[in-house]
Amino acid sequence: MALGVALLWQSATVVAAVPATRARAAGASVIAEGRSAFRTNCAPCHGLAARGGGRGPDLTSGNWAHGGSDAEIFRTITRGVPGTEMPANALDDSEVRAIIAFLRSQAPPAHPAIGGDPARGRQLFEGSANCATCHMVDGRGGRLGPDLSRVGAARSVAYLVESIREPDKELTAGATDPNNHYGLPQPYDTVTVVTTAGERVVGIARNEDTYSLQLLAVDQSLRCFLKKDLREVVHERKSLMPAYPETALSASQLNDVLAYLVTLGRERRMAAGDRP
Ligand code: HEC
Ligand code: HEC
Repeated sequence: MALGVALLWQSATVVAAVPATRARAAGASVIAEGRSAFRTNCAPCHGLAARGGGRGPDLTSGNWAHGGSDAEIFRTITRGVPGTEMPANALDDSEVRAIIAFLRSQAPPAHPAIGGDPARGRQLFEGSANCATCHMVDGRGGRLGPDLSRVGAARSVAYLVESIREPDKELTAGATDPNNHYGLPQPYDTVTVVTTAGERVVGIARNEDTYSLQLLAVDQSLRCFLKKDLREVVHERKSLMPAYPETALSASQLNDVLAYLVTLGRERRMAAGDRP
């Protein structure tokens, strides 16, 4: 613990993506130890591969809201992030270092230069590409898709590209039941219900139990059904988000949108750096 505290008050500024060479420097056995400690203590929120779950962000993107040096990550892990769900963890120093080595080993190569124009990206997002009809950014926008205010800080560019070009490939993990601390996140999939009266409604499931189902329909109205009134409930395991191939969003337009999303993440990181 003493080491972490001694290194603690180094500058908390933004750190660029970590060179993959550092990951290779850590021995495979240390990484394996870190993976196993991570599975036990962290995976319920951050996902088994640290790619993010319903309750915790992706820890492999190379974007660190709370600082990306070993000392800063050490501090985040041992002290937690007050005011959020990220708990303080009473682990041995060596375990924490092994977890950090594991996280480094999962990091993708440094962000490719995107080179898009964030202002044009924002126009596309809010305008002709229609993203804002489904996605909220800073409290404005639709509710069918996940809030993207922090997505640039939480996800790698490669993940963002895939989410836009091929949304069905890896569905965002949806909300977990807040009363079930370690409940598995539900995927954000498309649900179709057919009522006994023959009405067909498509949307995103908000809450579902044995007897009832709440659906945010594609027109963004919230519909509540009793299961006894439903003839069919189909989880389609595919995204409600349309795919955006090159014909819908050219490569340069995609770069603009990515630049916008990543800029959002950067503003967040700077705000986080101001925190005490
Ligand atoms: C109960 C859920 C939960 C558990 C368990 C949990 N975390 Fe977190 N973690 C979070 C949340 C939520 C955040 C985001 C905090 C914020 O809003 O900045 C976070 C943030 C972090 C960050 C900061 C990321 C950044 O961008 O700087 C690190 C590092 C981290 N967690 C590592 C771990 C490790 C390692 C473990 C296991 C020892 C762990 N977490 C266990 C929920 C959790
Ligand atoms: C018809 C509604 C709709 C539209 C329009 C839409 N999305 Fe989505 N989006 C969703 C839904 C639902 C999800 C969650 C399921 C999934 O992973 O695809 C999602 C997921 C995402 C994700 C993944 C978020 C994460 O954290 O995993 C990104 C990034 C994203 N959308 C960006 C965009 C962008 C950029 C546009 C415009 C070019 C757009 N979306 C247009 C509904 C939409």
